[in-house]
Amino acid sequence: MQTLKGKHIVLGISGGIAAYKSAYLLRLLIKAGAEVQVVITPNGKEFITPATLAALSGKPVVSEFFAANTGEWHSHVDLGLWSDLMVIAPATASTIGKMANGVADNMLITTYLSAKSHVMVAPAMDLDMWAHPSTQRNISTLIKDGVEIIQPASGELASHLVGKGRMEEPEEILKRVERFFSRKESLLGKKILVTAGPTYENIDPVRFIGNHSSGKMGFAIAEEAASRGADVILVTGPVAMHTSVDRIKRIDVRSARQMLEAVEKVFEEGDVAILSAAVADYAPEVCRETKIKREKTEEMTLKLVKNPDIAAHLGAIKGKRILVGFALETDHEHDNALNKMKKKSLDMIVLNSLRNPLAGFNKDTNQVSILKKDGTETEYAAKSKRDVASDIIDELEAIEGFLTD
Ligand code: CTP
Repeated sequence: MQTLKGKHIVLGISGGIAAYKSAYLLRLLIKAGAEVQVVITPNGKEFITPATLAALSGKPVVSEFFAANTGEWHSHVDLGLWSDLMVIAPATASTIGKMANGVADNMLITTYLSAKSHVMVAPAMDLDMWAHPSTQRNISTLIKDGVEIIQPASGELASHLVGKGRMEEPEEILKRVERFFSRKESLLGKKILVTAGPTYENIDPVRFIGNHSSGKMGFAIAEEAASRGADVILVTGPVAMHTSVDRIKRIDVRSARQMLEAVEKVFEEGDVAILSAAVADYAPEVCRETKIKREKTEEMTLKLVKNPDIAAHLGAIKGKRILVGFALETDHEHDNALNKMKKKSLDMIVLNSLRNPLAGFNKDTNQVSILKKDGTETEYAAKSKRDVASDIIDELEAIEGFLTD
């Protein structure tokens, strides 16, 4: 299907081994109906020839400020205005650094600085380069500047080292592009609260009780809702996640009590709360002021007290607001989820089982069933967390009266 028909895309290619994958990405974009102008850095040409890219795109590739034979000026300003979307894939550490700092010494960067459209960047580099504080600082800057980062995947890299840094596969990048153009502003005017991540309950100044939640599911939900036009407040426990979306206001908390406090402040003004956080059920009765020392005795006992149940608390005061909860279960999944929905006055509950290897903590995939108060149940296939987020928001939108009220 020609999902990108009539769309103008600038495909920026910089000098990394993953540039060979750009040819495939280009073919996918063209097949989907897009008009693509390739802009390549001088180093990019060392990895893939402009002839291949020109043949695939049906347009001469732009690389220099002036055409070599005619001296004609290639206008990055015109290109920046023409583009409906700019995708830079692969983006090397150097290109990312130049983008973050406005070092406009090639056509790709000048085009980026002139682009009025949304920009996506698919980094590709060795794992140590990706992890370097300098790269991470530049990525944070790009996120603040509103650039969408297509996180690199983990796997074997060109150096034969294994780790994070491999450019996301062309099919996945195409999906992101299609999602960008198909975004429905169906949630415009809606205010959605999302909780994400774990909570940390302090034992003493050094130690805490936590859990394995990465926040990936909650962040994906926040981004999906925002991409459909909702104003999102994302209350998150300690996670190593970034988000680059204007419509998401992020509030960082640590403990369950702090999460409740933050959520209470904003719940009333919202239409929906989606509670994906893995909130600790218990916290140490006291947090010691000084570090607990090793004792001579073989055992030590830590007294824990119950944390507030945020979902149940909101359930009791929700009025017409919609409440969506999660259940991560190891056994009696279905019954436990139904009970939780009832007990916490939820309208919908997303169930995932730890027995399923594609679901759970710190994975990029999830496999869920969605149970609703009206008795309907849908079991979904295993998908990326972003696609699961899309299913969850579709189910939310289908709740009677939600979009029309
Ligand atoms: N939840 C919450 N506050 C808590 C505990 C849970 O808001 N203190 C929310 C979670 O965000 C989730 C739902 O309640 O949406 C279910 O969480 P879960 O931990 O599975 O439920 P519990 O009631 O803690 O039950 P369990 O005995 O299985 O831990």
